Amino acid sequence: NPPNLQMESSFGLRQVNCRAKGGSPGFKVAILGAAGGIGQPLALLMKMNPLVSVLHLYDVVNTPGVTADVSHMDTGAVVRGFLGQQQLEDALTGMDLVIIPAGVPRKPGMTRDDLFNINAGIVKTLCEGIAKCCPKAIVNLISNPVNSTVPIAAEVFKKAGTYDPKRLLGVTMLDVVRANTFVAEVLGLDPREVDVPVVGGHAGVTILPLLSQVKPSCSFTPKEIDYLTDRIQNGGTEVVEAKSGAGSATLSMAYAAVKFADACLRGLRGDAAVVQCAFVASQVTELPFFASKVHLGRNGVEEIFSLGPLNEYERAGLEKAKKELAGSIEKGVSFIKK
Ligand code: NAD
Ligand code: LMR
Repeated sequence: NPPNLQMESSFGLRQVNCRAKGGSPGFKVAILGAAGGIGQPLALLMKMNPLVSVLHLYDVVNTPGVTADVSHMDTGAVVRGFLGQQQLEDALTGMDLVIIPAGVPRKPGMTRDDLFNINAGIVKTLCEGIAKCCPKAIVNLISNPVNSTVPIAAEVFKKAGTYDPKRLLGVTMLDVVRANTFVAEVLGLDPREVDVPVVGGHAGVTILPLLSQVKPSCSFTPKEIDYLTDRIQNGGTEVVEAKSGAGSATLSMAYAAVKFADACLRGLRGDAAVVQCAFVASQVTELPFFASKVHLGRNGVEEIFSLGPLNEYERAGLEKAKKELAGSIEKGVSFIKK
């Protein structure tokens, strides 16, 4: 992680100090799909993150404009733009963290799985680039269907001989963000004080909020549990329908992605007790991938926490979630294996 970087300016080459606030070495972060609905606000927020020293913005369209715009912000990170497949390798070389929101979003009436045919190929190509150019980077995968795109990425990395399950994380943070918000509304609390574990996966019934484990400790009526479970599981569809064909969650997703990326960077820096939910290779259930609380450290996922005690309602939800997840995982694996 070199502390300095050579940058071309109108007055020739200059040295840029690539140190995060406080003097520690900053991290190099790439966003793939940076010109999109999530990518743009995500670029804005990552440019504001004091742990980031270099920010690479890659997309197949419009990165020159987004890069020029974001680069005028007077924060520490140096921003560079990369346009099109021929610049993918330059965008990825040397990166510590790669965040992937590339791919098509849902329209009303679609499931996340309906995005598979287009997004599977996009994720495959991008992960082949990562395997070649920054095989040690932590990967935060946002592109849907996450329940299948994470297994796709794992298979691409296995094929390339670079797979490290600790470094591949499907981003389910938006489910936690929504759960915290909706639970806080019901309890009349500030959402910043609420912590709801959400496990399983990132689609419909695979999104399993553990309302019996909410902090601060509380209890809900059966009616509240039904309402909250349904709203958390269908939060994405709520936004898709409200946007009426103009896409899915972008702003709350960029917020969630930055919250999660910041946790990964703090883990890489060596901060203690960084814990978030993520969809990762896991032995918490019999499935090869599952979302649960993980400890993030210098190597990515350092520890995966078990689900803890579940009540009857949650045990029934877990069985439903596992049934659907198994098929989505298998679909992703066989996309690469075949
Ligand atoms: P968008 O269409 O606004 O943006 C997607 C961007 O990806 C576009 O700029 C497009 O040019 C780019 N892109 C397409 N092919 C590419 C390629 N091969 N390489 C690089 N970039 C490429 O969509 P969006 O609203 O930003 O959503 C992006 C994805 O994120 C969707 O699949 C959506 O379902 C998913 N999503 C996931 C979550 C989650 O919680 N994990 C939340 C919201 C959205
Ligand atoms: C979300 O949860 O908002 C995303 O997965 C996008 C979607 O299609 O719902």
